[in-house]
Amino acid sequence: MITSLETIGRRSVLRSAVRGLGAAMLTAVTSGCGPGEWNAPMPPQETTTSSSAQDAPGHGEGRRVLLAYFSRAGENYYYGRRTNLDVGNTEVLVAMIGNLISCDVHRIEAADPYPDGYDETVARNVREQDINARPAIAAPLPAIEKYDTVLLASGIWNVRAPMIMATFAESYDFTGKTIHPVTTHAMSGLGTTERDYARSCPGATIGEGLAVRGEETRGAGPPVEAWLRRTGLLRSQAQ
Ligand SMILES: Cc1cc2nc3c(=O)[nH]c(=O)nc-3n(C[C@H](O)[C@H](O)[C@H](O)COP(=O)(O)O)c2cc1C
Repeated sequence: MITSLETIGRRSVLRSAVRGLGAAMLTAVTSGCGPGEWNAPMPPQETTTSSSAQDAPGHGEGRRVLLAYFSRAGENYYYGRRTNLDVGNTEVLVAMIGNLISCDVHRIEAADPYPDGYDETVARNVREQDINARPAIAAPLPAIEKYDTVLLASGIWNVRAPMIMATFAESYDFTGKTIHPVTTHAMSGLGTTERDYARSCPGATIGEGLAVRGEETRGAGPPVEAWLRRTGLLRSQAQ
C-alpha cells in the first residue's frame, strides 16, 4: 500500500503533538452523528453581538454569523513549558474576529468547569476522550436557526476539539449551514475538527478553517484578517 508523504507527515505531527503535550495516548474516538442528544431544559445564555463590528466591512453582507467558542484560562502549554493565562488563547482570537466582523459571540461553558492545572486538565480530557463523553454545557444556547454561518472555535486537546465541542455540535441541526472550524493549538493545527464537525453536523458544509498557534494568538491579526477575507466573512470596502 502506498502512503503519501503528506499522510506520513501529518501522522508524525499528530504523534509528536500527543507525546510532547504529555497526553497519555491518542485514543481513536468517533463522535456520534446527528443533532438531538441534548435537550436539557436550561435557561438561555445571552449571546453578545460584537458591537464594535457593526460598521465594519462584512456587516450587512447578508450572512448571519454565530461565533461559538470554548476556551480555558489557567495553566497552559507555552513553547514546551507552562504559563498561566488570565484569558484563554481562543478567547483572545475570538475577540479579534469579533472586532473585525459582525457576529453574535457565544461562550460555551462547562457545567463542571475544567481545572486550572494543565496536568489535571490533560487527565480529564483523556478520560473524556476514552469514553467518548459529551460534557454538559452550562446555560446552553437555545437555538441556532437564525444563523447561516457558524464559526466553532476552541483549543485543540489531544489532537481534537475538547469533547464539549462535540456536545455543542450535536445539540443543533446544522443542515444547510456553513461551519468554519477555528482552533488555537500548540502544533496540531485544526487537528481532526473538520472531520469531527462533518460527522457531528450532517447536512452542514465545512468551510475553510483557521488554525492559530496559541502562543502567537495575540499577534495573529494579519493571518486572521486574510482568512476572513478568503472566506468572504470580511470584504474590503473597495471591492
Ligand atoms: C488538555 C490539553 C491538551 C492539549 N493537547 C494539544 C494537542 O494535542 N495538540 C496541540 O497542538 N495542542 C494541544 N494543547 C494546547 C492547546 O491546544 C493550546 O494551548 C490552545 O491554545 C488552548 O486554547 P485555550 O487557551 O483557548 O483553551 C493542549 C492543551 C491542553 C490544556
